[in-house]
Amino acid sequence: MPRAVRFNNYGGLEVLQVVEVGRPKPGPGTVLVRVKAAGINPGETMIRKGLLAERWPATFPSGQGSDLAGIVDEVGPGVANVVVGDEVIGFTNDRASHAEFVLVESGNLVPRPPNVSWEQAGALFVAGTTAYAAVRSVSLSEGDTVVVSGAAGGVGSIAVQLASNAGARVMGLAGDANRKWLADHWVIPVTYGDGVEDRIRAASGGKVDAFIDTFGGGYVELAIRLGVAPSRIDTIIDFTAAAKYGVKTEGSFAAANAGVLGQLAGLIADGRLEIPIAKVYPLNQVHEAYRELEQRHTHGKIVLEP
Ligand SMILES: NC(=O)c1ccc[n+]([C@@H]2O[C@H](COP(=O)([O-])OP(=O)(O)OC[C@H]3O[C@@H](n4cnc5c(N)ncnc54)[C@H](OP(=O)(O)O)[C@@H]3O)[C@@H](O)[C@H]2O)c1
Repeated sequence: MPRAVRFNNYGGLEVLQVVEVGRPKPGPGTVLVRVKAAGINPGETMIRKGLLAERWPATFPSGQGSDLAGIVDEVGPGVANVVVGDEVIGFTNDRASHAEFVLVESGNLVPRPPNVSWEQAGALFVAGTTAYAAVRSVSLSEGDTVVVSGAAGGVGSIAVQLASNAGARVMGLAGDANRKWLADHWVIPVTYGDGVEDRIRAASGGKVDAFIDTFGGGYVELAIRLGVAPSRIDTIIDFTAAAKYGVKTEGSFAAANAGVLGQLAGLIADGRLEIPIAKVYPLNQVHEAYRELEQRHTHGKIVLEP
């Protein structure tokens, strides 16, 4: 029997189970994908803990997971864009990709370029489309200086590369262990913690045009103090500060579509974007995977492989 991640009530890691489920049958316009890799994201932890229950309640038993890459196993009536055996990258909005098989709307799938690894493909959707939206929202052009917090994390590691591709000078706030990776990707590393504001001012020469916050905890206020216009600050996490200062909050919803996913896959295939893979866990080790993610020091993405 195929396996899938399920939880029956809100709670900590202990509520996550890997259970045997039926093999889903695709209906009109949907596709059954045999999952090769599926990324995990901090938002799934928040949903599982019930922290988003007012906005996005769970119905139990709940599955989880949006990101996926895999092989088309069966197509439903009316599906014209893929055939059985196609290798695809995609997403589901049904909290369901952490499983051996997942039903996906056919319009949520794009081809996997042959030189994009399963792990990078399976980790791409949430972090990639969020980074895309965040970078687009601050309107970068050649010569701009942009600071990115959480620069080596899932979203940040993609955002810094997209910002650099746009011609900006990019400063990445990260721990010392990530300095080399950032420097290797045309990013000026700046260590976070006490004195970060002075270090940014020194490294930027006092000119910061845009700020992308993927970490929270005061970076919006820091961006305001640095003199960045609110229209060129985007936070994907600190909604309280965003409301207070009128800064942007463009994240995954602003670019969560197959068109953007296909563009990002193309950038990876062309060698212009790398998704760092911190670790790959078998589906059965879903607890360990989230335990690591919840430390908030992941470099790039953690991936589950059924
Ligand atoms: N609004 C949306 O649409 C949306 C979409 C996706 C994610 N999110 C949210 O955005 C956040 C980031 O997501 P993610 O997937 O990128 O998370 P992640 O991969 O877990 O990010 C971890 C990163 O945070 C960095 N970090 C730790 N302490 C820091 C500090 N004090 N200052 C700056 N950076 C620090 C770590 O850097 P070091 O390892 O160098 O310490 C690590 O690289 C999460 O809260 C998530 O829920 C929102």
